[in-house]
Amino acid sequence: MFRSLLLKAARSSRLRGAVEQVPVTRRLVSRYVAGTKEGDAIRAADELVADDLTVTIDLLGEDTHDRDQAKQVADAYISLLNAVNQAGLASDVEVSIKLSAVGQALPGDGAKIALDNARRVCQAARNAGTTVTLDMEDHTTTDSTLGILQQLRLDFPETGAVLQAYLRRTEADCRDLAYEGSRVRLCKGAYNEPASVAYLDPHDVDRAYVRCAKILLGGPGYPMLATHDPRLVEITGSLAAKFRREQRSYEYQMLYGVRPEEQRRLVRAGERMRVYVPYGEDWYGYLVRRLAERPANMFLFLRSVASK
Ligand code: FDA
Repeated sequence: MFRSLLLKAARSSRLRGAVEQVPVTRRLVSRYVAGTKEGDAIRAADELVADDLTVTIDLLGEDTHDRDQAKQVADAYISLLNAVNQAGLASDVEVSIKLSAVGQALPGDGAKIALDNARRVCQAARNAGTTVTLDMEDHTTTDSTLGILQQLRLDFPETGAVLQAYLRRTEADCRDLAYEGSRVRLCKGAYNEPASVAYLDPHDVDRAYVRCAKILLGGPGYPMLATHDPRLVEITGSLAAKFRREQRSYEYQMLYGVRPEEQRRLVRAGERMRVYVPYGEDWYGYLVRRLAERPANMFLFLRSVASK
């Protein structure tokens, strides 16, 4: 219930102004977000790569309702990819993009605008020697996002997909996408979804995650297991061994600022670990989704509001 309220708040532009005034906000933002500028993201990526981690960089922002702004977001990604290349990081650093940020939510031909913009970003990534992964947003966008993925993969088969274990449809999507060369990030899912399309009980979500991980690890594709959940990390490791997966024929992924010691422990164990590094001014929706996942952060935040 509380999580659901918070996730609704993540989409409210009116609440953003109020949240920005809360003293602890900046501290929480700097824990989860690399900074506001491209240079901040490159610096954070460089530090992680120096520790043998790999990275996917996300320019924060979603639900663009303006065609010019959608184009500007794609341009910003192209500039970012040039910076990644110039910093000599392209073999370890890719980018993650939300299609709603590049036009998917625009009325009429939004899907086409998003496809065209994403195509430009994929070409820039190809030129730089790296890849793009399409983040997954709420369930109303899943079909459109998988459709755009299919189009992009005709020219850029290296483009990564994201599937959310909490959606009831996802096991079937895993089967469809578990093919040779297919890069698929599996996460639990971060949006406020109705019971008609999603498992709401956390145990059911965990069980679905394991079923999906089995399909992806048992297939010939490249699974990217995105979770901080210690139990799921352990189960994933056992499944990888059961399916005789060599290390680096799959990877773990975690968010910037979440369980950094565990990220390094997995690297020391010989695993590939990719850290999702967000940057940009538009941190509000991202921060509130992270608060919804972590009650301890939420209590810190509420205490600060109360003492204001
Ligand atoms: P869970 O939330 O159960 O957390 C397990 C444990 O991890 C917690 O008990 C705590 O110890 C730690 N933890 C988790 N979140 C924390 C936090 N915010 N702060 C501190 N500790 C925390 N979702 C989506 O819908 N679309 C997407 O495209 C993506 N992309 C994506 C990329 C990557 C690399 C990751 C890691 C995650 C995503 N997600 C996502 C988010 C994902 O769906 C999910 O909301 C979060 O990963 C939290 O779920 P966990 O699997 O970590 O488990």
